[in-house]
Amino acid sequence: MTALQHVRLGTYYVVNLPEPDDFDFWRERARALVQCDVPPDRIAWIEPGGSGDLFAHGERRMPVPPMDARPVRANRRFVSLAKNAILHSDPERFALLYRLLWRLQSNPRMMEDKADLDVRRVEELDKNVRRDSHKMHAFVRFRLVESEDEEEGEHYVAWFEPEHHILRANAGFFMRRFSNMRWSILTPRGSLHWDGETMAEGPPAERHDAPGGDPMEDLWRTYYASIFNPARLKIGAMLKEMPKKYWKNMPEASLIPDLIAGAQGREASMVEKGALEFEERPDTLAAIDKAIHACRKCPIGALDNTAVMGEGPQDAALMIVGEQPGDNEDMQGRPFVGPAGQLLDVHLEKAGIDRRAAYLTNAVKHFKYVQRGKRRLHQNPGAKEIDTCRWWIESERAIVQPKLVLAMGASAARGLLGKTVSISKVRGTPIPLEDGSELWVTAHPSYLLRLEGPAREEQARLFDADLAAVKARLAELAG
Ligand code: URA
Repeated sequence: MTALQHVRLGTYYVVNLPEPDDFDFWRERARALVQCDVPPDRIAWIEPGGSGDLFAHGERRMPVPPMDARPVRANRRFVSLAKNAILHSDPERFALLYRLLWRLQSNPRMMEDKADLDVRRVEELDKNVRRDSHKMHAFVRFRLVESEDEEEGEHYVAWFEPEHHILRANAGFFMRRFSNMRWSILTPRGSLHWDGETMAEGPPAERHDAPGGDPMEDLWRTYYASIFNPARLKIGAMLKEMPKKYWKNMPEASLIPDLIAGAQGREASMVEKGALEFEERPDTLAAIDKAIHACRKCPIGALDNTAVMGEGPQDAALMIVGEQPGDNEDMQGRPFVGPAGQLLDVHLEKAGIDRRAAYLTNAVKHFKYVQRGKRRLHQNPGAKEIDTCRWWIESERAIVQPKLVLAMGASAARGLLGKTVSISKVRGTPIPLEDGSELWVTAHPSYLLRLEGPAREEQARLFDADLAAVKARLAELAG
């Protein structure tokens, strides 16, 4: 049937979309309809919960494209805009996209026409969706939920109200960012649940399904207050970035009015105290030590802990880098003095490496933990926290100038490389660093502590082999 015949016969096609964000489904249907020459005004696109009944009357089954149908043209720009625009909450989006696809067949350069109303509208939808995703990344706040079942461990739950259908599209972002946590994100459009291994989707939720008010909120508030820089305060820009509608779900937002009111006074006192900024690199280890104690560039520094400075000779040829201080290190103010440090000592001795001749430090300077009764339980630092702390490890390297750096564990490796690497892939082979030194990566001793039996023996053997290689390489570099 030609386009003219469709119009003349008054044929209507109704496409019921299974999900409001299913681009692949829309694309498959749209292609077939274009190939069957069905004009845009002959199609009703109905999303779940939409008013499909109105059209049931004239409904036609999907037409089947002829064998010799021409391939459908869609350039890259159209596809990338369409993938985002389909997540918009505008019920007209499917029809708009089909109209664009239909018109693209006879005018392949149409997407370049900045004055075209359809092109402008799809660009606007794309922008709104990107902005909504950006807000979600920035403003989702997890709250710790106490579980009745000890086995289940900690569960973090966040409430968020997206404007568009962006939840599923952003699942990967939160999965990567909070891969070690068990979390749920509840929204009025659906929910996501991550248990550390698999992602599950759930039904829409209501505000009261999510918890509110717990110690994590105090943490966020302390953190926000400490990073709030009154010298940079631009109220208009702040409201644009953090629209008021998001405030109600953000614990730190309750501080905003007071912070704004007190901004001038705080600015004066910051200038007086010479508040810390990452602008000038400290040039002595003592200056780094002082600065890390004042550092509140990430929420870990706002916990009840003390920064732990590296220790060892300032001209050490070997720098050994761990993840972060543990409970013992935090209390004693020295790196590697707890169980992981004691195990490290045993293996260093076996390899013939003198601990006192090495400079020992950590990728992250503060102990990250959650309080459980009287106990403080170790928490892995997140990528952003490690990356923020890189400033300090780089400053230490610039002063000590070791010939060889040994990173123990994935966090340490990230702290030195700025990216995540797989230990099993990189161990045993030196990685050249930009200052001419070389990085060797091995497992963290606490990893060995968590293993038992043959698995522990095997990992201990690999650890010893890595240390032996480091020892041999140090001898070569010295000679
Ligand atoms: N684990 C580390 O990574 N560093 C320490 O200082 C102690 C334990």
